[in-house]
Amino acid sequence: MKMLDKLVLRLTEETEGRQGSLFYILNGINEELGYIPEEAVLQTAENLNISKAEVYGFLSFFRNYKTDAAGGGAYHKIVVCRSESCEASGSKQLIEHIKASLNLDFGKYSPDGKYFLDYVYCFGHCAASPAVGVDGILYEKVKPEVFDKIIKTLDFNKLEEPVELKLAKSLIFKRCGDINPLSVGDYVDKGGFGALRRVIAEIKSKGDEGKLLFINELKRSKLRGRGGAGFPTGIKWETVFKEKSEVKYIICNADEGDSGAYADRIILENDPLSVIEGMIIAGLITGSDYGCIYLRAEYAGAKSIIESVLGLLKDGGYLGNDILGSGFDFDIDLITGAGSYVCGEETALMESIENKRGTVRQRPPVPAVSGLYGKPTVINNVLTFAYAVYILSDNSNLEYFLSLGTENSKGTMPFQVSGAVKNPGIFELPFGVTLKELLKLAGADENAETVQIGGPLGAYFPLSAEFLDLNLSYEGVSEKGGLLGHGGIVVFGGGTDMKYRLLSSLDFFIDESCGKCAPCRIGTVRLKELFERILKKQNIEENLKIIDEILESMKYLSLCGFGAGVYMPVRSLLAYYKNEIIEA
Ligand SMILES: Cc1cc2nc3c(=O)[nH]c(=O)nc-3n(C[C@H](O)[C@H](O)[C@H](O)COP(=O)(O)O)c2cc1C
Ligand code: SF4
Ligand code: FES
Repeated sequence: MKMLDKLVLRLTEETEGRQGSLFYILNGINEELGYIPEEAVLQTAENLNISKAEVYGFLSFFRNYKTDAAGGGAYHKIVVCRSESCEASGSKQLIEHIKASLNLDFGKYSPDGKYFLDYVYCFGHCAASPAVGVDGILYEKVKPEVFDKIIKTLDFNKLEEPVELKLAKSLIFKRCGDINPLSVGDYVDKGGFGALRRVIAEIKSKGDEGKLLFINELKRSKLRGRGGAGFPTGIKWETVFKEKSEVKYIICNADEGDSGAYADRIILENDPLSVIEGMIIAGLITGSDYGCIYLRAEYAGAKSIIESVLGLLKDGGYLGNDILGSGFDFDIDLITGAGSYVCGEETALMESIENKRGTVRQRPPVPAVSGLYGKPTVINNVLTFAYAVYILSDNSNLEYFLSLGTENSKGTMPFQVSGAVKNPGIFELPFGVTLKELLKLAGADENAETVQIGGPLGAYFPLSAEFLDLNLSYEGVSEKGGLLGHGGIVVFGGGTDMKYRLLSSLDFFIDESCGKCAPCRIGTVRLKELFERILKKQNIEENLKIIDEILESMKYLSLCGFGAGVYMPVRSLLAYYKNEIIEA
């Protein structure tokens, strides 16, 4: 048997009984060969008993899969981040430098075949940006001269000290940095699995009444999902609990695609057991015995930690059959994606687990009623599971959580600050803190002029008195015409090239649209064309009017929050930086 056939067969056998088999097999081939050869596609299709078209359809959706061989020999793959935080820290100049010094362009090899240049929309290392990957190793704070040293020595670790991340902790981040993430004992010593034991005891003695008790606690806490939409978690769990189905699923959404957001990564790397405990509890309460963690491909560090702890938990009786002698079963698999922002959207994420292209599903039905494989599914963000554990640990935690925050945003939020600040990092603070207070803690640079809140679909705000007083809560940001999203805040200094910023984000929208609905698929491309005409001073006012109409159509007619959200960054850039962008 040929080497390649053996590899595909081994990977196929390893996927037995796991969800997300195409990701597993193709990621395995990619890691081994750096691309997906035609024979591997045929072999995979045959082994999984699906068509070649299905495998091609799937792999052509994801940025990380390439079907062409690597430049005919050994080459170094450079992957540079094009997203907001890196741009606020100098990636524009860095990208220009890389292209010029190595004679490269995106998606191209250098003329000598030694280098290949690719890009990513955020590595989740925004607090140490600009970030660049070379041959799979991630380098932080890369200035042009540092990049030259990396290329010369291919070893940056010897050149610089690791970047320190500021971590202000309160509820769910309190263990981070104080425990060994790979030690179940450390976690238990710091109160870990207390909530799980409480849930098991109540359900064993009271059955469904016990489950409802915890659902009601979650509802009372007013916990809102931290993935971006802010949906009440208690209601979601209650819906899944009430659905009559033999099979139900729990999914942890660790796709964390928003640029400027990295709280999921930090908690998964430092206190992964708190997230897993939340998933097990969700399973016991809603009646599911299987969960999966859907992790974005860029998080290699978190991947190896999660793999290790899942093994430890299975050995320790916390996962598998009859967990902790309770009579309940629950197991978890890790699924790693392959580079797609829209796969963070819950229905696209489920499609991709089902070996289909990551396109968004029409709703209703919502996933809580018909989710993965049409079964009732709890899908929550990483942080939401950790907050559920905090709240359900004991009543005093629930009361304390309720005492923090604002009327409609209870508890804390790990605000992630990056860009033009002296202390980039995570500030887990009660909702309602003002932007001014947060920027003071993060040490905003004197020339800080603009923030973007809530990721690439969030609004840009100038740092005027009006916006410095903005209260950071779901309702506070939305009152000002923005969204809080996952709590990422990127600070831009004066002198930021807003024209470049706009064009970069339009590229992002075009690249990441799943293509399912016309307003977004066509609208994103048309927006870029129209702006390019405007920048050439062609029919400026008329083209701006068409842009406005397209944004309006996208807002109301798009199938999901991606297309519907494009208006926010584009309109806010035009509202506050029109002169800079258009140079009237
Ligand atoms: C385009 C798009 C991307 C999204 N990306 C993420 C993501 O990376 N992580 C996440 O937790 N939620 C993401 N969401 C939100 C999810 O669809 C979903 O609301 C969330 O996983 C539910 O969990 P929660 O209730 O705990 O927030 C995204 C939504 C959209 C529209
Ligand atoms: S809005 Fe964009 S990302 Fe969402 S379904 Fe439509 S094409 Fe896909
Ligand atoms: S690592 Fe570049 S924006 Fe996050």
